[in-house]
Amino acid sequence: MGKVKVGVAGITGYAGMELGRLLLKHPDVELTSVTSRSAVGKKLGNVLPHLRDSKLEITAELGDVDIAFLALPHGESASEVIRLSNRGVKVIDLGADFRLKNAGDYNEWYGFTHPAPELLSEAVYGLSELYRKEIASTKLVANPGCYPTSALIALAPAVKAGLIGDSIIIDSKSGISGSGRAPSLSVHFSEVSEDVTAYGIEGHRHLPEIAQEIMKLGLKAKITFVPHLVPMVRGILSTCYAELVRPINKEEVKDLYSDFYRGEPFIRVAANSPHTKLTRGTNLCLVYPSVDPRTQRLIVVSALDNLVKGAAGQAVQNMNLMLGITETTGLQEMVIYP
Ligand SMILES: NC(=O)c1ccc[n+]([C@@H]2O[C@H](COP(=O)([O-])OP(=O)(O)OC[C@H]3O[C@@H](n4cnc5c(N)ncnc54)[C@H](OP(=O)(O)O)[C@@H]3O)[C@@H](O)[C@H]2O)c1
Repeated sequence: MGKVKVGVAGITGYAGMELGRLLLKHPDVELTSVTSRSAVGKKLGNVLPHLRDSKLEITAELGDVDIAFLALPHGESASEVIRLSNRGVKVIDLGADFRLKNAGDYNEWYGFTHPAPELLSEAVYGLSELYRKEIASTKLVANPGCYPTSALIALAPAVKAGLIGDSIIIDSKSGISGSGRAPSLSVHFSEVSEDVTAYGIEGHRHLPEIAQEIMKLGLKAKITFVPHLVPMVRGILSTCYAELVRPINKEEVKDLYSDFYRGEPFIRVAANSPHTKLTRGTNLCLVYPSVDPRTQRLIVVSALDNLVKGAAGQAVQNMNLMLGITETTGLQEMVIYP
């Protein structure tokens, strides 16, 4: 049997080109179709010199593929998913169009009316570690947002164990590539270098996604989520705080997290507070749970690469699950350090 044919829509974006990097060397699939708006008719290897070995031509629409990755701006995936589903193509959407279950949330948080609300219940939320079985048998994966991936991996063990109360604070810091490749004043080098700022304080789009998923884990929580932009290219560090509902010490919390993530190839319960740099270019998420004995608060810090575990890597992990092949295939890069 030949290799599985895969395509990437939005190859010229940061998430799309990271998919290209991972898929071109994946042993079980062949990248046969890539799209963008601005580079139609050009060779992928010329447009993106770090993928220079690829002779693929960039097209306006995806060709004949078995699995399609959509790395498009929010609001652009839904119509593509309808088209591709009608052709029997499996889809992994890296955007937000199928992450939320309540269609009305798209009007409130994303400013558009969802064109296919009937597909929202069919889409499986692609947090690989939590929904492995469902991902393996679905035709549509809603790949999680980068901030939600970091926050949910940090909080899931505590929520599942009924260890924390309903008030949660998530303080996240992201590298600039999280904003996408399109140039704007807010991502201009002179503006972001030597600077740190919070944004989305009154309500970031990833908040309803985090709340929905924490609810699915069993806790209706009041969540404060504040993202920050820091002057680095890749990486997300999330520090999550919640009141403990029963006394537990740091060692017991660490044991609980180690049990929860035992055998997970990409989650490491870290011995020390993690660094984003220790995940760079990999599909790893490092988690450090601790307890502040003075306030009886759980504090969990997580670190990941927003373009890999926060986007393209997790999408490939989900593809591996959908294909029934070893979950780590094509994802065993070592960290680039420093
Ligand atoms: N960046 C991250 O860390 C990250 C993490 C997780 C999820 N995501 C999600 O992944 C998706 C892509 O993000 P990104 O950061 O890669 O964005 P990006 O760098 O801005 O890339 C967007 C891609 O979509 C294409 N595109 C733009 N507007 C389009 C339109 N109206 N119709 C069709 N194609 C269009 C672009 O083509 P041209 O270049 O030709 O314009 C480009 O290839 C988003 O939904 C984002 O939320 C991103």
